[in-house]
Amino acid sequence: MRNFISVHDVTNIDALVQKALAYKTDPLKDKNPGVNKRIGCLFLNPSMRTRLSTQIAAQNLGMETIVFNIGNEGWALEFEDEAIMSGTTVEHVKDAAPILGKYFDILAIRTFPSLNNREDDYSELYIKQFIKYAGIPIVSLESATLHPLQSLTDIVTITESLQTNSKFQIPNSKPKVVLTWAPHVKPLPQCVANSFSQWINAWGKAEFVITHPEDYELDEQFTKGATITHNQEEALKNADFVYVKNWSTYHDYGKIYTNDPKWMLKNKRWALTNNAKVMHCLPVRRNVELSDEILDGSMSIVTQQAANRVWAAQAVLSEILMSNG
Ligand code: CP
Repeated sequence: MRNFISVHDVTNIDALVQKALAYKTDPLKDKNPGVNKRIGCLFLNPSMRTRLSTQIAAQNLGMETIVFNIGNEGWALEFEDEAIMSGTTVEHVKDAAPILGKYFDILAIRTFPSLNNREDDYSELYIKQFIKYAGIPIVSLESATLHPLQSLTDIVTITESLQTNSKFQIPNSKPKVVLTWAPHVKPLPQCVANSFSQWINAWGKAEFVITHPEDYELDEQFTKGATITHNQEEALKNADFVYVKNWSTYHDYGKIYTNDPKWMLKNKRWALTNNAKVMHCLPVRRNVELSDEILDGSMSIVTQQAANRVWAAQAVLSEILMSNG
C-alpha cells in the first residue's frame, strides 16, 4: 500500500480487517516497523477520535508522531496550480509539501470540503496536491468526499460483532446493513456516508440499504449496488446494523432541505429491526441526530466503534510501513 485515500488503495478488505482485529488482541505485537520513522498529522479541521487514535496507532508501531494544526497555526496554503497569490494564501502546497516530505516518512491529512462548490470539493484537489508534491505516502484523515479510516473501522466493528453472532456462522449468510440519514442543524459533508457506502459495496458481504428523504441522494459512484429507499420504516425492517448519519444535499450542493425529527432514530422505529446494533461515527448531536434512548441503550455500539479506530489506523500504518520500507 502506497497511500490510503479510499477503498481503492486496499487489495483485500477482509485481510486488513483481520490485521486490525489482531492488533486489538495484541496492540504491541509489531513494535518495530515504525522505529526511527515519523508521521506528520496535519489538521486543516477539528478532530478528536481521528487525531488521537492515529497517534496511538503510530506509537504502537514504534513511530514518532508530530501533530500540526496547519489550518489554524500554519501559513494559509494555496492549492491551485499557477495561482497568482495576491489574496489570502501565503504558501503554495507545491513549496510546502516537499518540505514536509523531507521531515516525515508518512503524511496524514484532514481536510474538509467547503460545501460551496461541488466540482471543487469532489476533485479532491487538496489531498491530490499533497500526493503529487510530498513524495511520501499520504493517509487521509478524512478528505472532502471520503473518510476511509472511519469506514475501515466500521467494517472491523461489524465483523467483530458478526463473529459472536451464531446466525452469521452459516456460510454466505449476509447481515442487513442500513445507512440512514438523520436530521442535523448544520449542513454536513457527505464524506462518511459516501465512504461507508463505497466500502460496504466493495466488501460485498452485506445486504446494503440506504434510506434518506427525497433529494438527499448521494453520488452514485459510491452508492451503486445498494438498495435506496425514502421509506425509513421499510428500510429498518429486519436490519442487523443501522448506521446513522446526517449529510447535506449532494445534487443541489451543501443544502439542508429538511430537518424532519421523524428521521431521528428512536426505540419505536428501532423495534422494526432484527435487534440491530446502532452505529455512528461521532461526534453526534444528541436528540437531534440520534436519541438518548438509542445512544444510551444496549443496541448502541458507538463507543466500541470509536475505540476500534486505533486498530484500523494501526493496520493501515503497518501496511504502509511494510510496503514502503
Ligand atoms: N469520527 C471522527 O472522524 O471523529 P473526529 O472528527 O473526532 O476525528
